[in-house]
Amino acid sequence: MKILVTGGCGYIGSHTCVELLESGYEVVIVDNLSNSQADVVDKIKTITNKDVKFYQEDVCDKKDLEHIFTNEQIDAVIHFAGLKAVGESVSKPLMYYRNNLDSTLTLLEIMNNHNCKKIVFSSSATVYGKPHKLPITEDFPLQTTNPYGSTKLMIEMILNDLYASDNEWSIAILRYFNPIGAHKSGLIGENPNGIPNNLMPYIVKVATGELKELNVFGNDYDTKDGTGVRDYIHVVDLAKGHIKAIEKVMQEKGIDTYNLGTGKGYSVLEIVNTFQKVNNINVPYKIVERRPGDIDACYASTEKAAKLLNWRAELELDEMCKDAYNFVSKNKE
Ligand code: NAD
Ligand code: WQD
Repeated sequence: MKILVTGGCGYIGSHTCVELLESGYEVVIVDNLSNSQADVVDKIKTITNKDVKFYQEDVCDKKDLEHIFTNEQIDAVIHFAGLKAVGESVSKPLMYYRNNLDSTLTLLEIMNNHNCKKIVFSSSATVYGKPHKLPITEDFPLQTTNPYGSTKLMIEMILNDLYASDNEWSIAILRYFNPIGAHKSGLIGENPNGIPNNLMPYIVKVATGELKELNVFGNDYDTKDGTGVRDYIHVVDLAKGHIKAIEKVMQEKGIDTYNLGTGKGYSVLEIVNTFQKVNNINVPYKIVERRPGDIDACYASTEKAAKLLNWRAELELDEMCKDAYNFVSKNKE
């Protein structure tokens, strides 16, 4: 069984390639390296001791994709490729709509031409906007607050329309909560350039001394300690969820949407405290203003994925904090 992984050199894509290879799938990666490095391919090979085919191409490019689908007998696609920074999407909306929508439309057209109609798509909990209650189930109303989130919601709509027009498709839409952590080997993980937008990469850079202190965005939310609460999920658990989703789209036609989270909410201060404890390192922080657009709390109902995909996250917060730090300490310049 051969799986095309778009964005397979990225953070979640690389971990998913490892799980696919370890589950016996053949893997073909297409990535334009706009937010990743080519050496990730060798690291995936080192971890798994298996071969991977890599095409450095843009998924928006019809000719390049056509070439891949003609060369390879692709059975199904996992579509990670996309731009993902919320703040940047606000300042560069056209770039986000162009890249995220164009790549998806191009991919779906070429898949259709080659009669490859099985796809797993990376959506995001951001499509729930500010939830009216918790935990969040998949049938909650959807609303977005930034162009990045809108691209995810639009793609979900495109996939639903596509299935309505042709019931031969098998489509799994996965809404990720907050992925953190890294592979145990320390070879692959997340280490964004510059000042990180997200909490865990920021904490890690404070721990390594690259940044002075963490700014905690608000302590007056209606949560256990006043700081924001999120559903953090270990990236390896998340990657394993994709194997279950691939099995599902291989088995049956249809379209369905699943939350991938742990179902547990942790506050910013709980994350900082756990990180300090398990890594035995100090993370100085100060409380600052709320970040515009942030919600107070967000965590998943995980029942649908448990029932229909037979998948649950297993790794605890201790592991997430240890593995995130292990990756960055091992890969410090
Ligand atoms: P990432 O940036 O690490 O990986 C995305 C990969 O896609 C990168 O390697 C990038 O080079 C590639 N890419 C982007 N546009 C491309 C194009 N046009 N052609 C070919 N390659 C292209 O991001 P990630 O954290 O691994 O996220 C993967 C997917 O999951 C994204 O679609 C993202 O929106 C979604 N997601 C991520 C999170 C998160 O917090 N990380 C949460 C929810 C959803
Ligand atoms: C988590 C908590 C912050 C940084 C984002 C995207 C979402 C999804 C996942 C892609 C919040 C607080 C953060 C910092 C802080 N990505 N925080 N200081 O905002 O839940 O979700 O990533 O789909 O779309 O919006 O994640 O890691 O940015 O923030 O206090 O320097 O940490 O206020 O409570 P978020 P995050």
